Amino acid sequence: MSPALGQNTFKYISGLLALALLAGCAPIPGSPTEPKPSLATSTQNYTQIGGSPVDAVPLSMVPDMSTVDQSDEHRHIFTQHFKVTSVPAVGEAQRGLVELAMGKFDQGNVPDVSAGLENSGELNIRSYLTAVSPNVLGIRTAAYQSVDSVGSNRFLTQWFDTRKGSVLGSRDLFDSADDWADFREFVAQTAASNPLIAPESVTQLEDAWLDSVNFDAQGNATVELDDAAITAGTAQSVVVTVSASNIIPLLSPFGLMARTAGMAPTPRLPAISAVPWGNPEEPEDPAVPAPPSGEEKTVDCTKAKCVALTFDDGPGPKTGKLLYDLKKADAPATFFVVGPNAKTRPELLKRMIAEGHEVGNHTWTHRSLTALSPANIRSEIDRTNEVISAAIDQPATLLRPPYGAHNSTSDRLAQTPVILWDVDTLDWKHKNADKVVSSALSQTRPGSIVLMHDIHSTTVAAVPRILAGLKAKGYTFVTVTELLGKDKLKSGETYLRAPSTAKGSVKNGGKK
Ligand code: NI
Repeated sequence: MSPALGQNTFKYISGLLALALLAGCAPIPGSPTEPKPSLATSTQNYTQIGGSPVDAVPLSMVPDMSTVDQSDEHRHIFTQHFKVTSVPAVGEAQRGLVELAMGKFDQGNVPDVSAGLENSGELNIRSYLTAVSPNVLGIRTAAYQSVDSVGSNRFLTQWFDTRKGSVLGSRDLFDSADDWADFREFVAQTAASNPLIAPESVTQLEDAWLDSVNFDAQGNATVELDDAAITAGTAQSVVVTVSASNIIPLLSPFGLMARTAGMAPTPRLPAISAVPWGNPEEPEDPAVPAPPSGEEKTVDCTKAKCVALTFDDGPGPKTGKLLYDLKKADAPATFFVVGPNAKTRPELLKRMIAEGHEVGNHTWTHRSLTALSPANIRSEIDRTNEVISAAIDQPATLLRPPYGAHNSTSDRLAQTPVILWDVDTLDWKHKNADKVVSSALSQTRPGSIVLMHDIHSTTVAAVPRILAGLKAKGYTFVTVTELLGKDKLKSGETYLRAPSTAKGSVKNGGKK
């Protein structure tokens, strides 16, 4: 990493930190800026989760871009950020944001374990591609954080000059200090007209609050303001738009390129060493036989010793390898996919169905459903079902709520059975294949539903041994629907494992 890059990275990561620190602080006195005579600008309020003033650009426009997903089920953390093989600065800067936010979240979210309390907070970070050209990448990161049931959204957009491999921020989009000052004034003027924005906050507009600037399809600049930073204690995010005619004269040469890349994204040429989008590590093995056609295998789990392996949060870069191993062992499984990953890798969903697996819904943004409004719960499920349907011609018939967090409202809105688990391998925590194998083998009982995550390479590496070990113990692998019985599953009911059978599995644990 060059010293300049390090400084820039630090500068903009510090910006995010500053935002977090600023939230909730008393207003600092400041003097109002001189108003500009005319403004062709507007403000907008966003209520949709992760809502954006600009449409996300398809990731396929950057052939060597991939996502890095991380989850921590106990602390309610789910993050997704980007890396780009040909531009290492992207992965470094993105990881820096996530690590900083996770560090801060830890400090503010310490449960009183002695009182038997679990963490009540939640951290959800997600990145979106907003601008692409051969020389420019724009990546917007939205972070939702709640502690003690009080949630807030923060936004930050990182700009990358891919010729230099450097990370830039809002200030770099503008030319001189005067141009930046004019931009701030435009934002302040427009913000002042929004009833959700406290008037005093407009008079002391901090540079750090303007750290998420993007460009819409008309070439206007959009500025996303964090909850609680400038807004008057609202749960809504506010977007201020500065018109193209006002913004163009203020932009730096890089800013003009960034505007074009946001307004009319053009694909990056494939890098020479580009990793093809999809499943680079999936082994090719012509020796694996195709499943016998026309021969429906039925298992009676009231008689057989059945287990349902489930994989959440994908599909990810290793899912192709996992499908290969499952097929080799003739082991059907159930995949609870998150919407954006399903949208990115629809061919893997097709393959899951073709190879006898089941696809379930794990929501769009992986937010805890118990913290969302009914409308947002439905939207989380419906958006994900839309991409599942687009891939496999049918919506998911099962829901797994993120973190297993559910209540009567989310169960009712699910409109499908709600699938939890009785075996938690803690694969996300240990990231150790041996530990995943030992917990899966030691905890599984007849009728178990085993929780794993196919976004972790250590989990995928553990699966062949789990399959062999459980098979040696006499288990038959089935999908969740096969395990619980299609006719017995009820919409809105929760299931931890299969009901009791002659083989000694315990009764359905009911609501968790
Ligand atoms: Ni999950």
